[in-house]
Amino acid sequence: MKADLLEKIINKTARIGVIGLGYVGLPLAVEKAKAGYKVTGFDIQDKKVQMVNRGRNYIGDVIDGDLSEVVKSGKLKATSDFAFIKDIDCIAICVPTPLDVIKQPDIGYVKDAALSIAGYLHKDMLVVLESTTYPGTTEELLKPILEKESGLVCEKDFFLAFSPERVDPGNSTFKTKNTPKVVGGIGEDSTELASALYRNVLESGVFEVSCPAVAEMEKLLENIYRNINIALANEMAIICDKMAINVWEVIEAAKTKPYGFHAFYPGPGVGGHCIPLDPFYLTWKAREYDYHTRLIEISGEINQYMPQYVVERAYRILNRFKKPLNGSRIFILGVAYKQDIDDYRESPALKVIENFEKEGAFVQYNDPYISDFRYKGREYKSAKLTKKTLNQSDLAVITAMHGNYNYGFIQKNTAFIFDTKNAMKNVKNRHNIELL
Ligand SMILES: NC(=O)c1ccc[n+]([C@@H]2O[C@H](COP(=O)([O-])OP(=O)(O)OC[C@H]3O[C@@H](n4cnc5c(N)ncnc54)[C@H](O)[C@@H]3O)[C@@H](O)[C@H]2O)c1
Repeated sequence: MKADLLEKIINKTARIGVIGLGYVGLPLAVEKAKAGYKVTGFDIQDKKVQMVNRGRNYIGDVIDGDLSEVVKSGKLKATSDFAFIKDIDCIAICVPTPLDVIKQPDIGYVKDAALSIAGYLHKDMLVVLESTTYPGTTEELLKPILEKESGLVCEKDFFLAFSPERVDPGNSTFKTKNTPKVVGGIGEDSTELASALYRNVLESGVFEVSCPAVAEMEKLLENIYRNINIALANEMAIICDKMAINVWEVIEAAKTKPYGFHAFYPGPGVGGHCIPLDPFYLTWKAREYDYHTRLIEISGEINQYMPQYVVERAYRILNRFKKPLNGSRIFILGVAYKQDIDDYRESPALKVIENFEKEGAFVQYNDPYISDFRYKGREYKSAKLTKKTLNQSDLAVITAMHGNYNYGFIQKNTAFIFDTKNAMKNVKNRHNIELL
């Protein structure tokens, strides 16, 4: 009965599950535990399960003390044994939704998670999908799997909703707890139950929509909006360079308009598990309706060109010093996909490195947040940022702006710097700095 589950949610006796303890799932699990619920996190990676159970944090947006406290108090535990789902009342799915090699949605993780739940689905259970995906996933894919495998009927025996995760890693103002949630259930009861749960956990409001597809589409709109506006900023950067105009100054000036303009900035491309991938979930789905999402495709094209463009500009800089790119020593500063985080998934810096190496350049990198990484079968280790390492490079390329870089020191000790993020805007001496 919906009323029984609602009561359990309101009085916090509902047992909560979170599938996928990554950038999205772990903060969510911690918040739910902090709100007073008993939470079980499920993950297929034993290492993450063990770390959570030891109270050891591995996600930047989670406060170490918060995690250890909820683990110590018994409010949060982790497991890779999905049989525990039989004891859960409300479960959230936070698994990856990547693209495959030909840039089509890889919905396999969501399917696997759904199958894991289906075997243990019971009456009066709430399932909420949080992974970003194409409109229709909850109703057309998840609901049939859950109903078929369990023999239960959605909205009568169990409840199902979509509520997109909006976490912004590294954002010190907006966290899981104070970011409003959008909820769209299969029916009114599903929406009411999922909303009640979020209202009990988060400080922010809950915005209810009429169905899961609206919630799925609104999340794509959020990310496509960013993708397109970043592409516009990148295109402006390219044309501004041709016209010898400082694009950063242009944006600062445009920002003075108090309405109708929101500033986006150019850079070496887009990265992370959202902006470069999510728009193509819609592009793919739109083809089913004989529609080609041209604006999304073209912005993807511009953003994907940026790592190549960075190398072309570097080639021109080196040319001025009569140096060929082949054999030059390039120092990449920042491989994270954005400021002050340790995530380099889909980071444009990786493509920049690859493009430099293809041209015969010797590349080393430094990132205070990423001590080493593997990319296309190669191992990279962060080089120390010293007078010597900077002096030895022909060109430093800033591909991510980190708050703990001493940009004055970098400027002083490097032959030339190509700054693709305007990270050195406060450095006074600019004779050896070129901006994107
Ligand atoms: N990272 C972000 O900034 C962000 C922001 C908003 C939305 N999202 C969306 O949230 C979803 C998750 O992203 P993420 O960044 O947290 O991914 P992630 O890779 O950090 O975490 C996903 C976790 O799910 C686990 N997992 C995979 N398959 C599983 C299964 N069958 N059962 C149990 N666990 C499984 C993985 O081991 C991993 O720990 C994606 O759809 C993403 O688009 C991400």
